[in-house]
Amino acid sequence: MRGLAGKLGRCLLRVAQEQQQSLLLPNCGQLQHVTLSGVATCHTASSSAPSLAGLSRLHTAVLPQPAATAQVWSSFSNVDPFAPVLSEVQAISERLRHSVSSSIPALTQAAEYFFRKGVKGKRLRPTLTMLMASALSHGTPSLEYSKMDVRPAAEHAPELRRRQQRIAEIAELIHVASLLHDDVIDDASTRRGILSLNASVGNKVAILAGDFLLARASVSLAALRNTQIVELLSQVLEHLVSGEIMQMTASDEKLLSMEHYLQKTYCKTASLMANSAKAVAVLSDQPPEVCDMAWSYGRHVGIAFQVVDDILDLTASSSILGKPALNDIKSGLATAPVLFAAEQKPELRPLILRKFKQEGDLSKAVQLIEASDGIQRAKDLARHHCDMAVGMVAAMPEPQSDHAVLSRQALVEMTRRVLSRKK
Ligand code: FPP
Ligand code: MG
Repeated sequence: MRGLAGKLGRCLLRVAQEQQQSLLLPNCGQLQHVTLSGVATCHTASSSAPSLAGLSRLHTAVLPQPAATAQVWSSFSNVDPFAPVLSEVQAISERLRHSVSSSIPALTQAAEYFFRKGVKGKRLRPTLTMLMASALSHGTPSLEYSKMDVRPAAEHAPELRRRQQRIAEIAELIHVASLLHDDVIDDASTRRGILSLNASVGNKVAILAGDFLLARASVSLAALRNTQIVELLSQVLEHLVSGEIMQMTASDEKLLSMEHYLQKTYCKTASLMANSAKAVAVLSDQPPEVCDMAWSYGRHVGIAFQVVDDILDLTASSSILGKPALNDIKSGLATAPVLFAAEQKPELRPLILRKFKQEGDLSKAVQLIEASDGIQRAKDLARHHCDMAVGMVAAMPEPQSDHAVLSRQALVEMTRRVLSRKK
């Protein structure tokens, strides 16, 4: 296993070095160096992100695909990325089902709607969070941690692994709360293959159920007794709201801007993954640069995940997605593939500006997108972010245990799954 650790470490390090070299990107005739942790941050008053400008300009460049990254991906493609922390994530899911009960039956029913057994959900955020915790750990967590933590949310947990599990739980609570609110805003009728909560119990109860999940998340957060973590995850809430508002209120110029799209995407999707990954690193007293690597991994995976989501919205059927297809353009949104297509097919620009509202706009937009390389360029963008995420894992200090090695392989494999997912 030690040999495997060495092999993975060397292989990943080579990827990181090659990435650093290959990120000399042409821009306006000049070479620009974009660092491994280049950032499209959210323009809010506070930001938990190291503020490095630049990644948003990548869309104009030919994106690099380091050969060594492909090597890492193919050599570890048999790894099940969920496996190293599966039993813990199951325990977290069980705890989530219990932790959202209230003395008011209608509130319990609404709040547990998406946590019930049998409701589809990948538990991607808790898995990524626990994998990051493991990647930086000194050993395999004892079997005790695969059992549900029965202490109430308000009770402080002194053990590091339990505290990290609470971060994973809080991340999922925040995520589901944001979806409940989002479905009200979007007037969505389905989510995760079932009726959306707003469609089932109405907007008012759905919004309050989301608030209730946030309240429970806040109690858990406070019980960690760590103000830096409170700050990190509170900023995620600010980012989620900012991202949603950025999307709703974009000016004409912003509607056509890839930079705006990437900032919004960081806020709406990547910030939660980035900051929960950073939070588990902070809890385990990692040096600031390692905490930032964890953050950067989450950020890159988050952006890639959303770009792929936006591609699937155009290419997959609604039965596969569990929500209506072409939802984005139907609701007036121009995502990465559309923005890339508009660079090549300027006829798309007026359609984007009038949010595809005129008769025939939808089919014309689909035609133009299909006739462009917008989807391919969006795939390249997602691939680029996955490469960067892999580079972050590579740049981490030597793994301290076999479990850490396995978890790093899983973090790498997760990026491959993000790219190849079909729903
Ligand atoms: C899904 O977007 C929505 C989000 C990722 C975040 C939504 C955030 C808010 C509504 C702000 C309020 C936040 C909290 C924490 C209550 P989408 O509509 O693009 O994706 P979908 O297809 O999954 O609906
Ligand atoms: Mg929505």
